[in-house]
Amino acid sequence: MSDTAKVLLGKVALVTGAAGTMGLAAVRVLLEDGCKVALVDFNHARNKALADELGPNAAAFSFDISDAEAVQEGHARIVQTLGTVDILVNNAGILSNNKVEATDAQEWRRVMGANLDGAFYLSQQVVPAMKAQRFGRIINTSSLAAKTGGLTAGTAYSVSKGAMSALTFSLARELASFGVTANAIAPAYVKTPMITEQLNEEQRQKLLKDIPVGRFCEPEEFAHVVRFLASPLAGFITGEIIDINGGLLMD
Ligand SMILES: NC(=O)c1ccc[n+]([C@@H]2O[C@H](COP(=O)([O-])OP(=O)(O)OC[C@H]3O[C@@H](n4cnc5c(N)ncnc54)[C@H](O)[C@@H]3O)[C@@H](O)[C@H]2O)c1
Repeated sequence: MSDTAKVLLGKVALVTGAAGTMGLAAVRVLLEDGCKVALVDFNHARNKALADELGPNAAAFSFDISDAEAVQEGHARIVQTLGTVDILVNNAGILSNNKVEATDAQEWRRVMGANLDGAFYLSQQVVPAMKAQRFGRIINTSSLAAKTGGLTAGTAYSVSKGAMSALTFSLARELASFGVTANAIAPAYVKTPMITEQLNEEQRQKLLKDIPVGRFCEPEEFAHVVRFLASPLAGFITGEIIDINGGLLMD
């Protein structure tokens, strides 16, 4: 791609869950569009290996996003190394399929910590500079489970994703007049280990029948929406949840 085609040239993006399937797909498109990208994940070994492989515009920062202090310290290192964060992709998350009676207090906290608290802590860190420079993009990964109550996903997971959608609306309203947008992507059944390993064959076959498009989602299709929302031309879209579910839910 020529430099003039790189619509995000010089921008700094921070992607959480970067060592996972969908996060990595998002990192790749942001690099293609000219960003310097901070890969954030607590899987240090894989995160570091990926950043090394992706080249000089990718850098690994390994910390637990559910820990407020670690987020503050990690964000400071990112700004020092790459500069002010222009694009925040809150994508890290963990799946839990346990329904209400099977979810204990520890699991509830663990899922909320990874899926919701981290997005809040990181948003808090990046917002002041985004407001000051009058440009920013916050892109959250919600889920179809936020709307359905979880077809296969459990209670804590579905609630965390519902809250992620609400966090998106709240940030969007507060930040709109500063040139900062906040949107979310609500995928369903992306081809990742989260899906391939956690569903049994019978569940997979039933879902394939139920999804009108007749297949699971490719990680690159998720990344394409990240690229779209990150674009300077997406500045009039805010407080939107973009469904990417193959027609499983039409509303
Ligand atoms: N796979 C799907 O079909 C699907 C559907 C809807 C939503 N989602 C959401 O998409 C996002 C990415 O999912 P994926 O399938 O790529 O998962 P994944 O397991 O491949 O990647 C998630 C990454 O997040 C990291 N992570 C988890 N908790 C963390 C923490 N506290 N601090 C730092 N890093 C942490 C993990 O190490 C992992 O690398 C998640 O938020 C998930 O809930 C996935």
